[in-house]
Amino acid sequence: MKNLLKDSKAYYEDNDYYEIFSKAEDYENKVSEYLDNVSKNKVVLDAGCGTGKFLKVLENNASKYIGIDLSQNQLSKARLKSQNNKSKFICSNLSKIPLNSNSIDLVISSWVLGTITNIDERNMVLSELKRILKYDGQIILIENANNSEFEKIRGRDKDNRTKDYNDWILSNGFILDKGINTYFQFNTLDEAKECFEVIYGDEIASRILDNKIEHMINIYKYINSEAS
Ligand SMILES: C[S@@+](CC[C@H](N)C(=O)[O-])C[C@H]1O[C@@H](n2cnc3c(N)ncnc32)[C@H](O)[C@@H]1O
Repeated sequence: MKNLLKDSKAYYEDNDYYEIFSKAEDYENKVSEYLDNVSKNKVVLDAGCGTGKFLKVLENNASKYIGIDLSQNQLSKARLKSQNNKSKFICSNLSKIPLNSNSIDLVISSWVLGTITNIDERNMVLSELKRILKYDGQIILIENANNSEFEKIRGRDKDNRTKDYNDWILSNGFILDKGINTYFQFNTLDEAKECFEVIYGDEIASRILDNKIEHMINIYKYINSEAS
């Protein structure tokens, strides 16, 4: 059986499948609506921006947009979507962010920290995200809730991985700001199955019975209340 995320080359490097997955995810753009309300006139870091799922709304609102990702391949897709020549794209590991301390108003990170399974590395990334934040700045984490059809299909209702990760977030000064009920909408059942097969492997893909998959998203917020 193929392992999730890190073992799945396609997840990071075969952008076409990732794009199909990304477009199907939160089909009604409820997360974008949330981001629209929080990003106006902010200096925004999209930490682990991937192919730029939220680039459009963030670029439209932000006074400056910076996207960072490990993968040059993902970044090149994001760059192609960019409509603002002042936006910056940086290929870097988030465990050592090449930005000054106290320089960012808003960090958005969607489905990134949970993919970092090494806890020391994940802690390092979080401490870097806090370091670059201005006083009163915010970190917004967009993550999976642990009780949706999407989690059941991936077997996450059984292994506690999502729950443990979400508990880790809450133990690091975040609050749950909003829960969003949404869904993946693929064009066809075959497309959904193929996409999940490439990303998560045959066994997980075989559990998909419909091109619409219910998904619950948690939005966590951290506010930097410490003046440096
Ligand atoms: C699940 S994807 C999410 C991408 C995007 N945020 C989205 O919502 O579609 C995770 C992304 O995080 C990036 N990533 C994972 N670990 C990273 C790290 N330590 N430093 C920088 N980027 C990282 C991966 O390259 C990948 O593009």
